[in-house]
Amino acid sequence: MLEISGLGHAYGTHRVLEGIDLKVGEGELVTIVGPSGCGKSTLLRCIAGLVPPTEGKVVLKGAPIDGVPDDLAVVFQDYSRSLLPWLTVRDNVALPLRRRGLGKAERRAQAVKALASVGLEDAAGKYPWQLSGGMQQRVSIARALAYKPTLMLMDEPFGSVDAQTREDLEDLVLQVHRAEGMTILLVTHDIDESVYLGDRVVVLARNPGRVRDELPVTLPAGRDQIGTRADAEFVRLRAEVGRLVRGVVKDSEPPDATDAEDADAEAVATAVEEPAKK
Ligand SMILES: Nc1ncnc2c1ncn2[C@@H]1O[C@H](COP(=O)(O)OP(=O)(O)O)[C@@H](O)[C@H]1O
Ligand SMILES: [Mg+2]
Repeated sequence: MLEISGLGHAYGTHRVLEGIDLKVGEGELVTIVGPSGCGKSTLLRCIAGLVPPTEGKVVLKGAPIDGVPDDLAVVFQDYSRSLLPWLTVRDNVALPLRRRGLGKAERRAQAVKALASVGLEDAAGKYPWQLSGGMQQRVSIARALAYKPTLMLMDEPFGSVDAQTREDLEDLVLQVHRAEGMTILLVTHDIDESVYLGDRVVVLARNPGRVRDELPVTLPAGRDQIGTRADAEFVRLRAEVGRLVRGVVKDSEPPDATDAEDADAEAVATAVEEPAKK
């Protein structure tokens, strides 16, 4: 359903992305993980048609993307700038439904339903600034859900909420993905989150941003915050993704690296890890 080929992007002379090939199938939940500054947001903006890539192309359901596709919803990291302060929560969620050609009553009914699915039915008549950060981000997610997009793009959507809310929102995404069969591409710099949520994890390297590797997540579909994170397979995958993100060679490669090469890998690991923690 989504096919990215040879995608590259430069801001002026600064090459940010290079040679990105990526396919996402109908109903898949793919996570993209990489250190900060590797071009994750740029990649999502190219897919969303907000930034024209300088090389390569993005094809959604057989049609090349030029401009923002109708059938797409994006949840940005910065919830405080994504909701309109002069509209109630319900009207914020209902607004994009105009593009679906629905009447006012129907738009409002769907907005209230989506708000209920994120546990915010009581906040429908409030304004965004009357809600906590986590609640505002839930409104953004409800807005994307109400729209029922062919593809939902999420850019570090839980980056600025507290740990408990983050776990709740992660589980909400899994639940929606299962219930609605929605195709989701979610970007994160959090290694655990990429494994916990993904059917497949795509690891990006940086300077310039490119696909380092892809791993299928062979965990059972019914995931839960405590059981799954203690699962031996989860622990193995998290370690493998961690090594890839930090640029350390994989275990499966022949053990012929000299001590000097190991030291290099360690140096890279430290250099890459530091900014990602910000
Ligand atoms: N609008 C822009 N103009 C110029 N440089 C940008 C712009 N947006 C991002 N960059 C640069 O591109 C690189 C990748 O940024 P970004 O895609 O935001 O990475 P990530 O989301 O992985 O942290 C960074 O070096 C950033 O400074
Ligand atoms: Mg980003």
